[in-house]
Amino acid sequence: METTLVLIKPGGVQRNLIGEITRRIEARSLKVVGLKLINAPRATVEEHYAEHRERPFFNGVVEYLTSGPIVAMTVQGDNAVKAIRAMMGATNPLDATPGTVRGDLALSIEDNLTHSSSDPDAAARELQLWFPEGTI
Ligand code: CMP
Repeated sequence: METTLVLIKPGGVQRNLIGEITRRIEARSLKVVGLKLINAPRATVEEHYAEHRERPFFNGVVEYLTSGPIVAMTVQGDNAVKAIRAMMGATNPLDATPGTVRGDLALSIEDNLTHSSSDPDAAARELQLWFPEGTI
């Protein structure tokens, strides 16, 4: 059993895709065990993307993630990390396979709708960051 983090980015919330994305996760028999709609603190977003601090898109992605409400979700299930990554599709929606969230619903890398943890270690770090209070 694994636990992973999914963020629905501001574009996904603004486009009323909270339900559609959550529906796909639940339909896969993965369990939502933590869920909140928040205005992400800038410091949390900066820490979340710390590994990208030197990349040219760092400021843009931090600005974007703090530009409106996001959904933070804890998802649990067998091989949840890999299953969720596959469901979301390639980071660049232009490379994402149809049938994935990005392949069906997104067009640009700046607004690729979701973030999901890349591996179990990243998931543990990110869940501690976004759900310090823990989940049910
Ligand atoms: P995410 O999985 O949240 O991790 C880093 C984010 O930076 C990525 O998804 C994109 O939304 C965003 N980003 C913007 N430009 C780029 C880029 N050129 N390469 C990678 N990520 C980018």
